[in-house]
Amino acid sequence: MAMPKSKYATPFPVLHAASLLDHRSRIHKFDEALKQLVTPNSYVIDLGTGSGVLSFLAARAGARKVTAVDISPECIDYARKAASMNGLEDRVEFFVGHFSDFRPTERADLVVCEMLSSMMLIEQQVPACSHALKHLLKKGGRLIPESAEVWIVPVESPAAWGRFELPELHFPRVPQTVGLDDFKDLAAARHLVSFDFGSHRSPQTVDRELSFDISEQGTLHGLVGFFKAKLLDDIALHMEDGWRDIFLPIETPTKVVSGEGVTVRVRYTPGRVDSILWELKV
Ligand SMILES: C[S@@+](CC[C@H](N)C(=O)[O-])C[C@H]1O[C@@H](n2cnc3c(N)ncnc32)[C@H](O)[C@@H]1O
Repeated sequence: MAMPKSKYATPFPVLHAASLLDHRSRIHKFDEALKQLVTPNSYVIDLGTGSGVLSFLAARAGARKVTAVDISPECIDYARKAASMNGLEDRVEFFVGHFSDFRPTERADLVVCEMLSSMMLIEQQVPACSHALKHLLKKGGRLIPESAEVWIVPVESPAAWGRFELPELHFPRVPQTVGLDDFKDLAAARHLVSFDFGSHRSPQTVDRELSFDISEQGTLHGLVGFFKAKLLDDIALHMEDGWRDIFLPIETPTKVVSGEGVTVRVRYTPGRVDSILWELKV
């Protein structure tokens, strides 16, 4: 059955959610932020709980009650087991389903939501935070991360571009995650969009045209997008804390030389990977 348009989701298989326990710097930064914000009176909601790790950190930081929400029943089963292994089953409760179907009996002092992805494109950070603002948070409640900034850069990446070509077989070019060694920047990265998760005015769509001055001779294969998020005050999340960049391939690689200009248009609705359109003109 096709999902209604308002119900976009990015469910994680449980083994993938558990593998995120390896992102120690990411978890440490959330722990620091939660220790600063949680009080013994706090009710905390964790949207996209996965293994349950951020809910458990909130409970360990002293929260009176935590609700862990995830659309994946396998993730919730795993997180439930972890809660009892850690003696936290009395303070952490679970909701299996889409975040937009979760309406708590009381509003939360703090919502933690980690559905970040490299351009806020694939995962549900932006719509989930918007739901949290409208339906989950108390007036004056806090939401972490607080904000995110997205940048893009034109790149050379023969390997990532070539993924779609097998001997005598061709595939449609779609966004792909890439590592830092998979591409070379051909210009300085430019800021694409800022999201302020705690504001009703934060953008729900992106549509921007940007110009780049090519600084490196090479072959233009597409764009790479990445982000930096602010958890709280001086605690920031960077790509190296656990994320991969996103590569947006163009149809026809184009040779470029230093000093040339490239105009880029990028349009998408965060959380709806099928909405993305990108265009590059040399
Ligand atoms: C990046 S993982 C984060 C897991 C965990 N919070 C952590 O920090 O390790 C995002 C989680 O969000 C869940 N998710 C994705 N779309 C969702 C939706 N629409 N409603 C509820 N949960 C969702 C996924 O199943 C996944 O477990």
